[in-house]
Amino acid sequence: MSPRAEPALAVHDVSKAFRGVAAVNGASFSVAPRSITALIGPNGAGKTTMFDLISGFLRPDAGNIVHDGQVISGRRLEQTAGLGLVRTFQLTRTFLALTVLDNMLVGSPRHPGERLASLLLRPRRAWRTERLERERAEQLLDAFALADQARALAGTLSGGQRKLLELARALMARPRTLLLDEPMAGVNPTMGIRLLEHVRRVRDDHGVTVLFIEHDLEAVIRYSEHVIVMAGGAVIADGTPELIRRDRRVLDAYLGLGKAAPTAAAQVPGARPE
Ligand SMILES: Nc1ncnc2c1ncn2[C@@H]1O[C@H](COP(=O)(O)OP(=O)(O)OP(=O)(O)O)[C@@H](O)[C@H]1O
Ligand SMILES: [Mg+2]
Repeated sequence: MSPRAEPALAVHDVSKAFRGVAAVNGASFSVAPRSITALIGPNGAGKTTMFDLISGFLRPDAGNIVHDGQVISGRRLEQTAGLGLVRTFQLTRTFLALTVLDNMLVGSPRHPGERLASLLLRPRRAWRTERLERERAEQLLDAFALADQARALAGTLSGGQRKLLELARALMARPRTLLLDEPMAGVNPTMGIRLLEHVRRVRDDHGVTVLFIEHDLEAVIRYSEHVIVMAGGAVIADGTPELIRRDRRVLDAYLGLGKAAPTAAAQVPGARPE
């Protein structure tokens, strides 16, 4: 990427308060196209709120957000999805009583109501679209090692498989930018690494930009190319993953241990206490 390439996502001085308490406070950062960028920070730093603001689930009190050169702040969730921004959630949102395949079809950008209408009005074309979507779903399930479970109820999947399904489903919408909120949370470390390997492949094969929230710093260092650090609603550091090891502000603020930095450094992979 040339240094002057337009960012895939740019957040300018964005703020959001809940009943007068700032969750995000004048945050600015940008994400390079086709990069894997990590958003890290302590609990309550404002990371999920930032995703809510970018995806249109919440409206910022101030500032603006630009995706692929278009201002998207203030747009609703359905509109940002239509522009190629797709997010997954900290707690997986899988329809446990549906089959794995149907969970994939729910992720298709075509709304079920719209599908029904076109099925009645233009049956031949609707069936064709339906078939193509189904084929895409099956290909993705295959790529995510879930093909054998396609007809099983999603409720029978393991926690890690549900995370995989959520990632595969997000791709049904053909996103340009993926926002992943703690893709490794709640799964064992081996599955966590497998998930991030998939994320990397998704970026390589589908050319999407990935912004992911993660607490596992070892994984962040290994899988991200750029790191944005939030604390107290603001962006306190922004740079290469090496930043996590070297930047005193990250050691202090991210780990929230203030002067107990040697202990904090001991918890940051590869960090050297001064
Ligand atoms: N809907 C809401 N109403 C009121 N306060 C909220 C709401 N959502 C978030 N907050 C508050 O905003 C702050 C930021 O929360 P947020 O969930 O964005 O943090 P986070 O960085 O994602 O944390 P974690 O790592 O624990 O997921 C917290 O103090 C939280 O309590
Ligand atoms: Mg969160």
